This record gives sequence, structure tokens and C-alpha cells, in this order.
Amino acid sequence: MSWKEIYNERLLTAEEAVKKIKSNDRVVIGHAVGEPSYLVGKMVENKDQYENVEIVHMVAMGKGEYVQPGMEKHFRHNAIFVGGCTREAVNGGRGDYTPSFFYELPELFKSSLPIDVALIQVTPPDEHGYCSLGVSIDYTKSAAESANMVIAQVNKNMPRTMGDTFLHVSEIDCFVEYSAPIIELGPPKIGEVEKAIGEYCASLVSDGDTLQLGIGAIPDAVLLFLKNKKDLGIHSEMFSDGVVELVEEGVITNKKKTLHPGKMVVAFLMGTKKLYDFVNNNPMVEMYPVNYVNNPIVIMKNDNMVSINSCVQVDLMGQVCSESIGLKQISGVGGQVDFVRGVTMAKNGRSIMAMPSTTANGTVSKIVPILDEGAAVTTSRNDVDYIVTEYGIAHLKGKTLKERAAELIRIAHPDFREGLKKEYEKRFKIKC
Ligand code: COA
Repeated sequence: MSWKEIYNERLLTAEEAVKKIKSNDRVVIGHAVGEPSYLVGKMVENKDQYENVEIVHMVAMGKGEYVQPGMEKHFRHNAIFVGGCTREAVNGGRGDYTPSFFYELPELFKSSLPIDVALIQVTPPDEHGYCSLGVSIDYTKSAAESANMVIAQVNKNMPRTMGDTFLHVSEIDCFVEYSAPIIELGPPKIGEVEKAIGEYCASLVSDGDTLQLGIGAIPDAVLLFLKNKKDLGIHSEMFSDGVVELVEEGVITNKKKTLHPGKMVVAFLMGTKKLYDFVNNNPMVEMYPVNYVNNPIVIMKNDNMVSINSCVQVDLMGQVCSESIGLKQISGVGGQVDFVRGVTMAKNGRSIMAMPSTTANGTVSKIVPILDEGAAVTTSRNDVDYIVTEYGIAHLKGKTLKERAAELIRIAHPDFREGLKKEYEKRFKIKC
């Protein structure tokens, strides 16, 4: 049978396709802005046909209809990362959180988290019968390869990306044609604090370095201060519009990369249409599953690698919490530790944890004597390297507990330094 015949035979309406999901199935939804929102909406409309369908999702950028009150009988949410639309549900008992390094997820789908159905979004097939998964390859491609059934929303607006992003139509069980704009994430607000942090982080970046950048205002602020650098490269779990500007300005060339020279390597993308147009059919951008991009053994093959991520709290020993406020799970480990560890093993690697010194309008210090009760340690004190706030850079690797505490107090907000010094003196029995 030709691929066209296979495609036509498997073409269904969304209503027909979601009927293939059965009670007690485990359903994985395509990641982040790759979420097939139309299919998810139709699955939720069909809720009365299901009981106890487990929804596995990471960064959920859609409406999260399946975690709303009243859905408990039909759907059970298993979050691998807790985002804005799932936070209340996970902490309110309507969902759960599974701790897992991002790079391990494809393996989990083959072992302790086997998948019944993968709901994904793809480009229309090309002349050879291959559909690209576009903006989200990460766990989404592996989920499709492991699932018993793959239902794909075929969207003409999905960019066709290069690398290991393609599934042949024979690997997809049902096609639902529905084109809508890809979810966009506008640029974050960058204030004076983020700018100061960005400038300190940029001072740790040298010409020819390869970068990993997390999500949000701080990584974007760092990019603002890299305009005078030369020949930077990208090997990152994700990137956004800010990177495109640095490519256009000739700052990011990827020329000096020791792994995939000349190419930006990434697992998923989140940004505006500008980013999606940039990656469409662009051989400079190579996308791979997360068990490759985020694997510390792969990351370490990049000499001069710098990772920049953010966190919620740091204690005076350098233990970093990036995912909870006490027992309240607000996000997840994501790829933070994958990169911290890979970068640490890389030749001339540097891992940076950057955060504003305070939260809650300056009333709460993020540098604390002891992490809040119940907080998860995301990056351990043995893994931590640089901590940056708007007050400077603390280099913790190779430092004693006393030296670490003193370094961190130096970059804490001035309003909290006296209190932290008292804690130091109580703990170490000497003056700070
Ligand atoms: N005490 C109390 N509340 C705190 C806090 C603290 N120490 N630190 C942050 N918060 C609150 C904020 O006020 C905010 O609350 P709101 O949503 O009600 O406004 C919320 O927690 C999120 O904090 P914010 O600083 O706005 O988050 P961010 O968008 O800058 O993201 C992380 C910061 C740490 C949550 C995010 O970087 C993350 O999830 N990191 C882990 C995963 C990761 O690093 N992945 C890397 C590869 S992409």
C-alpha cells in the first residue's frame, strides 16, 4: 500500500479518533506548544465515555481542561512538570506529580510508564510520506514510538523541522486534519533586576561558548548582554525568540561547537510565530529527542558549555530548590539537573543558577538559612556551581560550607544580610 493510501485509510474525524481512547488508558499529550489542542478539546468533550483515563503531560500550555474540578471521575492527571494551568489541580488533590529527570522520560515510557495512547501534532506528510513533529520532539517523538496507538492532529501551521523529527505515516494510527495557529509564548517582561542578573551571567560567558538557556525572563535578559560576543553556539533543551535575534546579528554562529558544529541542537521550542518561521525547513536547527539532547553524556561532549537556569530558593549550603515552595509543587526538575551534570563534566563547563534575590515584592529572601520545610532539593550542594542574583556572582564549587554561606550572604538582598549573618554565626560559631 502506498503511503497516500495508508494516510487516507487512517483519516478520521476528531470525534471518531478520540473514541479509540478507553477507560483506564494512559494517554500522553504532546509537549508544550506542540500540544494538539483540538484533539485534547475533543477528548474532554467525550469525557462521559471514559473513567479513570490517566493524562501524562509535562509543560501544559493549553487550557488544561482535563484537570478542572468535576473531571476527577474521567481523568487523572500525572504531571511530569507542573505548569500554570495544572498547579492548582496538582496541589488540590486532582492530580499527581512524578519526579523524573527529563532525559530519562523516553526510557520510562518503555519501562515503568508504558503508554496506551499518544496524542500528538504533526505537519502534513511530505512527498515521501513523512510528517515532522515540528516544535516539540523532546519526549513527544519517543511517546509516539512507544505508544500502542498514535493519534495525530495534522496542522498545516506546524513548522517542518530538521534532525530526528519525522514519523512515517505508517507509524501513526489515526490522522485528524485540523489547522490552527501554533500556541505562542510572548516575550517575558524584563525589568531592572533581570537586566542586572543578565549582565552578571553574561560576564561568565566567553566568545566561542555553547549555551543552554532555560525558560523565562532571566535567560532572555542574558541574551540582551551577549550582543558583543562572538561565535556562540546553542545546545539547549529549548530556546525562544531571543536566540533568533542573536543569530540574525551574527553572534550565534555555532562555528566553535565541538559537537554538531554549525548547528543549533534543541529538543523543543517555545516562542512566537517569528521563531516558528525561523525553524521551518532550517537546516541550521537540529531537533532531537530529549534522551539525546539532555543526556549528560551527550552534553559533556560540548567543550566550553554554559548552562543558565533559575530557581526558587537556595540555602546557605548551596542546596537549590527549583520546583516547590515547601511541600507545594510549583514546577518540576525539567532539564535543570541534566544540564548541571552534563556541563560539570564538560571541558571548561560552567553551570549558572540565576534568580532575583527576593520574591513577594521584596518581602521574602530567596537565599535562606534552611530550605522551607518539605522543599525538594533539585540541584544538590555537590552539583551546584555558580549562583547569580542582581547583587553579584557566588562561585560555590570547591568551597567549604563557611565560604559558601559567606559568598551567598554577599549576593543576598541587603535587607536580609544581617539576618543571614546571625544565622551564619549561630551555625559556625564564628563572626561572618
Ligand atoms: N518563596 C515563595 N514564593 C516563591 C519563591 C520563594 N522563595 N520563589 C518563587 N516564588 C513564587 C513566585 O512569587 C511566583 O508566584 P506566582 O506565580 O504566584 O506569581 C512563582 O513562585 C513562580 O516564581 P517565578 O520567579 O515567577 O518563576 P519563573 O517563571 O521565573 O520560573 C522557576 C522560575 C524556578 C519556577 C523555573 O525556572 C523552573 O521551573 N525551574 C526548574 C526547571 C528548569 O530549570 N528547567 C530548565 C530547562 S528549561
